[in-house]
Amino acid sequence: MTKSATAEKTLGWALIGCGGAGRAHAGWAADTEGVELRGFCDIDAGIAEQLRSKHRAEYATTDAERIFADPDVNIVSIATSHSSHADLAVAACQAGKHLFLEKPMAMTTADCLRIHKAMQAAGVKLMLNFSIRFSGAARAIRRRITAPMVSHSQCMMSRADLNRWRWHPVEGGGPLWDVGVHMADYLCWIHNSAPVEVSAAGGQVTHPGELGSPEMIDTAAATIRFANNSVATFLMSDAGSSSVVSKWFFEFFDGHRSAVLYEHFRKVTFTTDDPQEGQQSETLTPPPIDRLPLLVDAIRNGTEPYVPPQAGILSTLLIETIAASIHSGRPQKVDLSALPAPLPH
Ligand SMILES: NC(=O)c1ccc[n+]([C@@H]2O[C@H](COP(=O)([O-])OP(=O)(O)OC[C@H]3O[C@@H](n4cnc5c(N)ncnc54)[C@H](O)[C@@H]3O)[C@@H](O)[C@H]2O)c1
Repeated sequence: MTKSATAEKTLGWALIGCGGAGRAHAGWAADTEGVELRGFCDIDAGIAEQLRSKHRAEYATTDAERIFADPDVNIVSIATSHSSHADLAVAACQAGKHLFLEKPMAMTTADCLRIHKAMQAAGVKLMLNFSIRFSGAARAIRRRITAPMVSHSQCMMSRADLNRWRWHPVEGGGPLWDVGVHMADYLCWIHNSAPVEVSAAGGQVTHPGELGSPEMIDTAAATIRFANNSVATFLMSDAGSSSVVSKWFFEFFDGHRSAVLYEHFRKVTFTTDDPQEGQQSETLTPPPIDRLPLLVDAIRNGTEPYVPPQAGILSTLLIETIAASIHSGRPQKVDLSALPAPLPH
């Protein structure tokens, strides 16, 4: 945060959803200069109270309205299960709160656009928590490989526990909406271009008939074409972990160089083919950047937050298009017509 920003008034912060991700949000808020932790909300009163007492905040509640009505809360982190994001985020915007919103922004593009409209009407800021974007290694790729032509991305998990809400057809939507959105966002960011066409195969490969709805997808193998004619592959499943490439794996090629992101996006190896000096490679493990101060800066300076709402809308749209291609068995155009500017170009 800049010095002038810290001189300004303290921003009150509150959390809705006090589970695993919520605990991380509370830690970031506690570490952010100029932010005061005020309230913790969860439908489970016990875990809201646990976090309140750990951070010595003002109150714990099971009623999100209490947070929206608190005039001393300026920023709300939302870290609840996916199906509740849209209504909570819209209500927070209508109450004039800035938002640090977990992914997916919402489960449908229509709901993402509903949040965006509420946000614009209220004049508040919204930042998405796409974790890969905050990784030092992932950011190094964005700086060095500015025009990738071809890329490969993979999120391969060990066998999932289907009883968790993430795999519930309504509450979570399955792994495309959980981890697939991270990949969709990072690919669009690095390709720096809007996805225009998707061809995908998959469906129920690892859990046939076990997912509570025939629409649910456990595995997706997709190809994506971007407006700048670059192409990406996208592979997501819970078919078994790999100790060689880690759960997350990305590789980008720009015609001369490649960048491999691995070890849970902590490490990057760049390789260059130099006509004179031959192949050269460099491995980096730069630290991640702090998340909440980026939203605080955007609020104080009236600027676009580091991970803007357009990124959330686009990643949900891309995931919906991958699902549509799997269900139809046909390539699908990505319908960018309703999306607010600026999009990647
Ligand atoms: N960015 C990341 O890398 C990352 C990592 C993990 C989880 N997440 C995201 O964080 C969110 C939460 O995931 P999690 O792993 O913490 O799940 P979790 O189950 O551990 O926690 C979710 C909490 O939200 C509460 N909750 C659900 N609906 C609510 C509502 N309407 N009002 C108040 N509380 C409500 C639940 O009681 C639970 O305590 C999801 O959107 C998930 O995708 C993001």
